[in-house]
Amino acid sequence: MSKYFKYRSLDDLRRDVEERRVGIDLVDDIAPLLSPVTVAGRTLGNRLAVHPMEGCDGTLDGLPGELTVRRWERFGAGGAKLIWGEATAVVPEGRANPRQLLISDETAPHLEKLLNTTRRAHRERFGSADDLLVGLQLTHSGRWSYPEPLLARRAGSIDAIKGLGSEYALLDDAYLERLEDCFVEAATLARDAGFDFVDIKQCHTYLLNELLASRTREGPYGGDFESRTRFIMNVLRKIRDRVGDDFILASRVNVYDGPPFAPDGDNIGRPVAKRDYPWGFGTNADQPERPDLDEPLRLVGLLREAGVSLVNVTMGSPYFNPHIGRPFERPPIDGYWPPEHPLVGVQRHFDATATIQEAYPNLTIVGTGYSWLRHYAANAGAANVGAGRVSIMGLGRGALAYPDFGADLVEQGAMNDKKACIGVSYCTALMRAKNNELGQFPAGCVPRDPLYAAEMKKIGGTANAD
Ligand SMILES: Cc1cc2nc3c(=O)[nH]c(=O)nc-3n(C[C@H](O)[C@H](O)[C@H](O)COP(=O)(O)O)c2cc1C
Repeated sequence: MSKYFKYRSLDDLRRDVEERRVGIDLVDDIAPLLSPVTVAGRTLGNRLAVHPMEGCDGTLDGLPGELTVRRWERFGAGGAKLIWGEATAVVPEGRANPRQLLISDETAPHLEKLLNTTRRAHRERFGSADDLLVGLQLTHSGRWSYPEPLLARRAGSIDAIKGLGSEYALLDDAYLERLEDCFVEAATLARDAGFDFVDIKQCHTYLLNELLASRTREGPYGGDFESRTRFIMNVLRKIRDRVGDDFILASRVNVYDGPPFAPDGDNIGRPVAKRDYPWGFGTNADQPERPDLDEPLRLVGLLREAGVSLVNVTMGSPYFNPHIGRPFERPPIDGYWPPEHPLVGVQRHFDATATIQEAYPNLTIVGTGYSWLRHYAANAGAANVGAGRVSIMGLGRGALAYPDFGADLVEQGAMNDKKACIGVSYCTALMRAKNNELGQFPAGCVPRDPLYAAEMKKIGGTANAD
């Protein structure tokens, strides 16, 4: 029995939304999601996106594995017209796990094959892939890199999570300068492989997200807003110089990091800092449980000026406040019960995204945080699109569970409750499980996909929190 999601109809959900006074609008007619949208001159056939969802199933060399191909193929045949390819490291030491994809001269031909398989799957199912956009997310995992945390800055209570003391070395300026060029090289390889866009990832407290919040870092990459945005602005300028204006640039951005949460005696998450918290981007330093969107708004303005035409708005850290990024029904293995009803978390996503979209009405904004709504996600997405609060609705866990949600929306006009994500965080449990010969289990949807139910059996109760 679900603890939170108890709705038998859209009206049940509407009633709960009203009683809890969360401002989430739900409409019956999902047509706004099925209308086309143009991004930098390319028209997408609908306003449905698959968020980047890594499966931790590449080879140890960073090539796509069998399960990577299976996942992308299913997304390709699924009907969403925006496929935001998963986290792909630009340097080996910046991978988040030993099976994360890596982009290099050696791996690029394999990524090209993965892309072609995805497009072919779409063409075979829908007749054409001309109105499909497929991109790749370029990343460096920073403090969450495997096997060594690589720190952009010191950050008190965040450092404490991994027991990193003040003696732990920071990445120096020369490393960051070289890394800018690695992002440029990676973007060029992705463009040459045929991807429609690259995302320079600035979210979920990975390296570039941390740089945005590096107020206490000295030197060119830390301190004031201009210095904290130097890395991303340099990367975007250099990519443009290298590849010209035709290639679509995108960025997935944390507009709110929030503070770390830790379980109390009842295993309910509580913020470790209630005030004086200088470590978050988009985070009110006096009240870190509240977003402060001033700097994220300025950042999105800069991105737009630098030629970014697609922004995916997201928030939180999967490592220290998972309820913020992924409102859930049941906590992840290393998590806690949420301190708020998941609808509150969904609303936080929607409101922050609307603030960004309303400030930049001509920019294509992809929204996050829909999956907890299960098969009613589209009713919220259509309401948000219809009201100009977002341009495209993305599903993360929802797409892993139900890759063909787009086809069902187009062909049946609704999502199927038997196929939707139920938010029980088993995909995250698999991600956290390291105890096999490859040092990493593949992640996928345990309740909806027998292949991952079998993987879940293998990890038994031994999934660790690392
Ligand atoms: C198994 C798993 C893999 C993920 N991989 C990525 C990733 O590669 N890049 C990224 O930006 N976010 C990643 N995320 C976060 C999702 O894209 C998304 O932001 C999050 O799940 C919230 O959206 P949802 O409510 O639709 O699931 C991942 C999440 C999960 C559970």
